Amino acid sequence: MFRSVARSAAGKNLLRRGYATAVPERKVAVLGAAGGIGQPLALLMKLNPLVSQLALYDIANTPGVAADVSHINSRSEVAGYVGEEQLGKALEGCDVVIIPAGVPRKPGMTRDDLFNINAGIVKGLCSAIAKYCPNALVNMISNPVNSTVPIAAEVFKKARTYDERKLCGVTTLDVVRAKTFYAGKAKVNVADVNVPVVGGHAGITILPLFSQATPKANLPEEDIKALTKRTQDGGTEVVEAKAGKGSATLSMAYAGAIFADACLKGLNGVPDVVECSFVQSTVTELPFFASKVRLGKNGVEEVLGLGPLSEYEKEGLESLKPELKSSIEKGIKFANQS
Ligand code: NAI
Repeated sequence: MFRSVARSAAGKNLLRRGYATAVPERKVAVLGAAGGIGQPLALLMKLNPLVSQLALYDIANTPGVAADVSHINSRSEVAGYVGEEQLGKALEGCDVVIIPAGVPRKPGMTRDDLFNINAGIVKGLCSAIAKYCPNALVNMISNPVNSTVPIAAEVFKKARTYDERKLCGVTTLDVVRAKTFYAGKAKVNVADVNVPVVGGHAGITILPLFSQATPKANLPEEDIKALTKRTQDGGTEVVEAKAGKGSATLSMAYAGAIFADACLKGLNGVPDVVECSFVQSTVTELPFFASKVRLGKNGVEEVLGLGPLSEYEKEGLESLKPELKSSIEKGIKFANQS
């Protein structure tokens, strides 16, 4: 299926000779590529055979990261870009832009405490995306995702480049955690596990739907509650264990690579690519919400509904709404200031 899609793509879009399988050329940029997430994410994207050009951008240290990663034996050509004057070159022609730029949490901080610094960084990077690669699919990792995604949307609206199908908040790490914790409790192979995680990406706004987890395990209510809490606090668990040295980087790079791979597969026409993501949504009354989405040639082709919820999940859904609403509004307000 995948090969036939590739063959039908425009000739110029096909991979150069020398590779066994013809897959379209795809340029991916990582913004914040020299950071804790950026470096392992650069490595994982270099290993992804769907990527033909990998642009690594940061305000410092990218030449070293790019030189290092470029020696790996995989398809993509790697280039490092450093400083704002090189941002345009990094972004030109991009199909997917992944943004892990910004400061991470320290113990005692919430994701919202990062707002003052990261909101400005995201606003600047998104203005450049609107200018240099307005059609790229944006994967927003920078926290607080509940606010940075609305900020990006406002920046793109102002630039008249907004396409809601092309903007995704990366919540894959919540799914990754929910799967691991569920597999451990249910004593099943994590590779077989599926757990949708909806809502947002901070504290109680993270709502794992263990009632829909497969394989079914019929765990008692207290186990479900403990798993829910652990998923919601998964980031804080890592922040505390790192004791001031940042937040999740390796597991986040893994999650970011899974999501970017799903985006690339969708763009390449692979059918039925479904992941959870924080996107513009009508699933609830909130303008942005994380749920399962179907990824395709235009990005988010379909935002899927919540499915049946347990009473506990229904309560969780109602209690997350005020916080998520206010984080979204905070982002919109920030983006529209001066
Ligand atoms: P880090 O501090 O190790 O790296 C951030 C990088 O961003 C640095 O290399 C820095 O130079 C760069 N940067 C700063 N301003 C920039 C700009 N204007 N343009 C380009 N690059 C810029 O931080 P880490 O651990 O990599 O985390 C990055 C972000 O990801 C944080 O906001 C963190 O909260 C978030 N995060 C999100 C998760 C999610 O599930 N969505 C999970 C874990 C972290």
